[in-house]
Amino acid sequence: MTPDLMAQGAERYQKALAKSARVSDSGGRAASYARLHQAGDLDLAHGRILYLEDVHVSFDGFKAINGLSLDIAPGELRCIIGPNGAGKTTMMDIITGKTRPDAGRVFFGSTINLLRHNEPEIAQLGIGRKFQKPTVFEHLTVYENLELALKTHKGVAASMLFRPDGGQRDRLEEVLHTIHLPSAVLRQAGNLSHGQKQWLEIGMLLMQEPKLLLLDEPVAGMTDHETERTAELFLSLKGKHSLMVVEHDMSFIRRISDIVTVLCDGAVLAQGSLDQVQADERVIEVYLGR
Ligand SMILES: Nc1ncnc2c1ncn2[C@@H]1O[C@H](COP(=O)(O)OP(=O)(O)OP(=O)(O)O)[C@@H](O)[C@H]1O
Ligand SMILES: [Mg+2]
Repeated sequence: MTPDLMAQGAERYQKALAKSARVSDSGGRAASYARLHQAGDLDLAHGRILYLEDVHVSFDGFKAINGLSLDIAPGELRCIIGPNGAGKTTMMDIITGKTRPDAGRVFFGSTINLLRHNEPEIAQLGIGRKFQKPTVFEHLTVYENLELALKTHKGVAASMLFRPDGGQRDRLEEVLHTIHLPSAVLRQAGNLSHGQKQWLEIGMLLMQEPKLLLLDEPVAGMTDHETERTAELFLSLKGKHSLMVVEHDMSFIRRISDIVTVLCDGAVLAQGSLDQVQADERVIEVYLGR
């Protein structure tokens, strides 16, 4: 290489250095964090959408969550099983801001500390939660319920004037198909079967385009046919959303699971494929029985 070319190379290198210094002087990283929060985007640089580390919660001295650490990858469908009282619902209460832990770290993506946010903020950040009992508006139609879900985060005045735009109507159609209810669009929600009400509530969550969905015992009380269709529904959501599913129905878990986490006494007892955890002596002892 000639001295000329070397000098030019050195100059380019210095310019590049100066440019990168300008970016960081102007708060490049901090600015990009702020932008991520504003856009509702999630920083997934560490490959994890949800991260819990050494979380503890006591109720009147009883350790309901006791050193719980767990993380979930973007697009993953994670199944959570474990005996009654293991802390599964309490874990969801912590993620959604309903219960404050005594200690530990809970992050959404790499940068959002969920412990600094309250329940409505966490919902707006993109975490949707489905409780066991369906909570749809029984006197409204399927369509009206889905439409209402679009308004949830608006004020009263804005809600009264609200009309879905073209994009939102397309989204509503798409969700109707996803939840297997296009032919029931004009039916009153109160006349739907238990399973259909559950799907409608999941549809209402989907209208808000959550990044992470938490589902607590979603197939309890469903017929076998409804349970199978729910399995298909969850498998279709995987990849587009991240899901955390708590269930006691093992045939349902077998149908949908990749990684299964077993909770017991407020901490992770075992984790792996369903076959792996079902063969684990400790899991058989506390949960599955002999
Ligand atoms: N608000 C509360 N006050 C007192 N104790 C609580 C509270 N919430 C949960 N607990 C207790 O914490 C423990 C864990 O309860 P949790 O509901 O999380 O269990 P779970 O794994 O969801 O069980 P299940 O499979 O029966 O739904 C239980 O012993 C429960 O009684
Ligand atoms: Mg529970």
